[in-house]
Amino acid sequence: MNVKSKRLVIAISGASGMIYPLRLLKSLPAAYQVELIISDPAKKIMEDETGWNCDRQSAADFLSEKYGQDQKLKNIRLWTDDNFYAGPASGSYFTEGMVVCPCSMKTLSGIANGYAQTLIERAADVNLKERRPLILLIRETPFNRIHLENMLKAHDAGAVIVPANPAFYHYPETIEDLVDFIIARILNLLKIEQNLFTGWQEEID
Ligand SMILES: Cc1cc2nc3c(=O)[nH]c(=O)nc-3n(C[C@H](O)[C@H](O)[C@H](O)COP(=O)(O)O)c2cc1C
Repeated sequence: MNVKSKRLVIAISGASGMIYPLRLLKSLPAAYQVELIISDPAKKIMEDETGWNCDRQSAADFLSEKYGQDQKLKNIRLWTDDNFYAGPASGSYFTEGMVVCPCSMKTLSGIANGYAQTLIERAADVNLKERRPLILLIRETPFNRIHLENMLKAHDAGAVIVPANPAFYHYPETIEDLVDFIIARILNLLKIEQNLFTGWQEEID
């Protein structure tokens, strides 16, 4: 692996909130190589919510159209969700961790119960067994008992459950302000430098 690039797996499953993975991809330093996996339901919801057709336009092209030319430099490799020959399907393929963003209740269940039936579930399983960070940006409301039990199972297996519920104490003015609060928390968990949000009282140091 190129020493300048660090691999990060970003998986997009079929929940509402497709602005989250777009802001995550936008905010990730260019030195990262993104291993992107998008489920079939997620592709449809992505197009509905953001206009991005993942099969027709590359992620870097869409990001550059939306957020500016520098996004074209992003190193993003797209894998299909049924490709078990993909790098992230194996523990021997080193990555810094994985974010499922957003994470549907179906994908949460698959991960919590070790299904490994899609590439997203398998890659998450690999991250848990290799003790690498696995962050699940879950999106549903309200939760039933099955959702809650699956969250606890995934948590106990080593995943971090990050609900898509932003705070309001930073006086957000736009949807992007709300979303970036969550993205900043995800980047902090991965120990990736970010300038989206200053932590509580950090500015006084
Ligand atoms: C427009 C739309 C929005 C959806 N939003 C959610 C959601 O927020 N959370 C959720 O758990 N499922 C949601 N679903 C249902 C999932 O897409 C569905 O359960 C699917 O099987 C998930 O598959 P995947 O996890 O493999 O992507 C939504 C479906 C549609 C069509």
